Amino acid sequence: MKTILVEKPFEIKIAEVEKPAIENKDDVLIKIISGGICGSDIGIFNGSNSLATYPRIIGHEYGGQVVEVGDGVTDLIVGDKVAIDPVRSCGECFACKNGRHNVCSTLEVTGVHRDGGFAEYIVVPAANAYKIDTSKVPEELISLVEPYSIGAQINARGEIKKGDKVLIMGSGPIGVCTMQIAKARGAEVVITDIVTSRLERAKEMGADIVVNVLEEDLSKVIMDFTNNEGMPVVIDSVCSVESFEQSVGMASPAGRVVVIGLLSKKSAIAQVEITKKELNIIGSRLSNYRFPEVIEGFESGVLTPEKLRTHSFHYTEVVKAFELIKEHPEQVCKVTLRFD
Ligand SMILES: NC(=O)c1ccc[n+]([C@@H]2O[C@H](COP(=O)([O-])OP(=O)(O)OC[C@H]3O[C@@H](n4cnc5c(N)ncnc54)[C@H](O)[C@@H]3O)[C@@H](O)[C@H]2O)c1
Ligand SMILES: [Zn+2]
Ligand SMILES: [Zn+2]
Repeated sequence: MKTILVEKPFEIKIAEVEKPAIENKDDVLIKIISGGICGSDIGIFNGSNSLATYPRIIGHEYGGQVVEVGDGVTDLIVGDKVAIDPVRSCGECFACKNGRHNVCSTLEVTGVHRDGGFAEYIVVPAANAYKIDTSKVPEELISLVEPYSIGAQINARGEIKKGDKVLIMGSGPIGVCTMQIAKARGAEVVITDIVTSRLERAKEMGADIVVNVLEEDLSKVIMDFTNNEGMPVVIDSVCSVESFEQSVGMASPAGRVVVIGLLSKKSAIAQVEITKKELNIIGSRLSNYRFPEVIEGFESGVLTPEKLRTHSFHYTEVVKAFELIKEHPEQVCKVTLRFD
């Protein structure tokens, strides 16, 4: 079968490898239909993703059709369309035993730590495959369940609920997915960016207030919006040294700040900034079994992945897709690959 293989940084090719076979009774063989390109795939390509090892079949946002099931699989049948959760955990460590398998001490993500879904076929445990009704959701959008699951986890970690005022910094795919889920939970959302077209998309997808931080004073907008209290919930999806500092500054007393970046550079945050407001600073990583709620949102139409997806390429054009994402962020939000 064919795959998208990154042999080492800056060396990517369509490679021919052996088609995987079911080894465990709980496995399913999936014929991939759709893959979503994420910043971390580009990070594996250009060598900036410190978690990845090489050579690697990339892709952690993907879905397809079940073409074979192991003897022990009871809840999926051949022909089902499924979105795949890339999280693999041990089930034994402290995090796993405490219901937090997404931060398992020996966590592996398909497409990062082990081979992923940018391939014609993949074998995964049936428990990682979530059925989706493609009479309601175009099958090319199956791969977008995963980025929305990141947004669902951020909402859960931030305990976002009806009436909360939420600031999301950054209107990239993750910021926008998080925004739509926060809106579905009944929050009011202010979202920022430095690219006008990204803000326009965020507005069209449901944000209440959009702020171009190059043109407007964000602190003033926040203070006007919250009667000078600051934001009860701040989510930083810009993930820079400065944005983490800003997010703490923008939070109200008793507020919550959700951090999702994987940057290892240090931000300067004084203890007093956290103590005096008694802030909760909360990490959010991948998702803790959030696929079902996202699929429900796709099928009901509450979430609109078709508006997130701006471009579609055949998988053999992956390099062209990477170039478009890098060179034209103003045109692009999520790019999907077709594996037909
Ligand atoms: N923790 C997790 O599970 C997880 C999962 C996926 C992605 N991430 C991280 O989330 C971040 C966002 O992912 P993405 O795919 O949306 O990336 P992205 O780069 O597309 O989005 C970032 C957005 O921030 C905007 N931006 C840049 N500087 C800004 C500023 N000063 N103020 C406001 N906006 C600004 C950019 O224009 C862009 O639209 C990445 O850092 C990624 O590593 C974390
Ligand atoms: Zn991703
Ligand atoms: Zn574990």
